[in-house]
Amino acid sequence: MLKDLVRNWRERKKGQLSEEDLLARLDRQRLPRHVAIIMDGNGRWARRRGMPRTFGHRAGMESIRDIVRLSTQLGIGYLTLYAFSTENWKRPTDEVNFLMNLLVEYLHKEIDELCQNNIRIHPIGLLDELPAKAGEALQVAVARSRHNSGLTLNLALNYGGRTELVEAVRAIAREVASGRLFPESIDEPVIAGYLYTAGQPDPDLLIRPAGDYRVSNFLLWQLAYTEFWMTPVMWPDFRKVHLLQALVDYQRRERRFGGLIKSQAGEN
Ligand code: IPE
Ligand code: IPE
Ligand code: MG
Repeated sequence: MLKDLVRNWRERKKGQLSEEDLLARLDRQRLPRHVAIIMDGNGRWARRRGMPRTFGHRAGMESIRDIVRLSTQLGIGYLTLYAFSTENWKRPTDEVNFLMNLLVEYLHKEIDELCQNNIRIHPIGLLDELPAKAGEALQVAVARSRHNSGLTLNLALNYGGRTELVEAVRAIAREVASGRLFPESIDEPVIAGYLYTAGQPDPDLLIRPAGDYRVSNFLLWQLAYTEFWMTPVMWPDFRKVHLLQALVDYQRRERRFGGLIKSQAGEN
């Protein structure tokens, strides 16, 4: 509570708008349907405080709570959180184990509130390769939340955009080989239907905290026309106010999808 007040005061001093001001500016009719977040910067956040990287991962859980709550309140349809990539196995075993245990802890602690808020858990990635405990906790969360009709929370775990495409191509190839699908029938909607996000709208907004400007193998197909919003704020410091900043900024953008906006049409 006090921390939030101090943060609000600091941001006001820097000329940044408060949560209330941002909420007032937000057009509820033009919210993104799907927001995706690369939850980055946990390690650096902890190291700056002279703490082990794992301290940052734990702190990042509070940010997840905050952002999931606000997304639900606003009525956003889909929230995709990048939690563990197919490349993150390269990290020290202790860190990987910590992250997997944290996932189990998060699901155990949060599942009641998630269900009360009508949230459906939808993990995406190569889930079979996760440790058994994590796999089981996910299965329970998916089963308990499968009839919920509010926010769909895509948890990207052992997720890689290239792996997702490899899996899709394999599945399509099997269909073709068995004669159930003609190569000529393969089009963009068919391919999208074989991705982990089948049936979902593409992300309208991608948020990456912690100052890096790259996609790190996230949603390579789905990001074709997504708006990007980056911030130097580290994930453990990321709060509702930052999501609101991203949303207000998103609403100022002009999405052209390769075409022209009304005022440009007929100019030549
Ligand atoms: C994001 O924070 C969490 C995961 C990738 C699992 P990092 O651990 O990448 O933190 P930095 O980028 O090293 O600061
Ligand atoms: C991306 O962050 C993956 C997740 C946030 C889970 P990384 O920290 O792994 O990405 P790079 O290595 O900086 O590209
Ligand atoms: Mg990182």
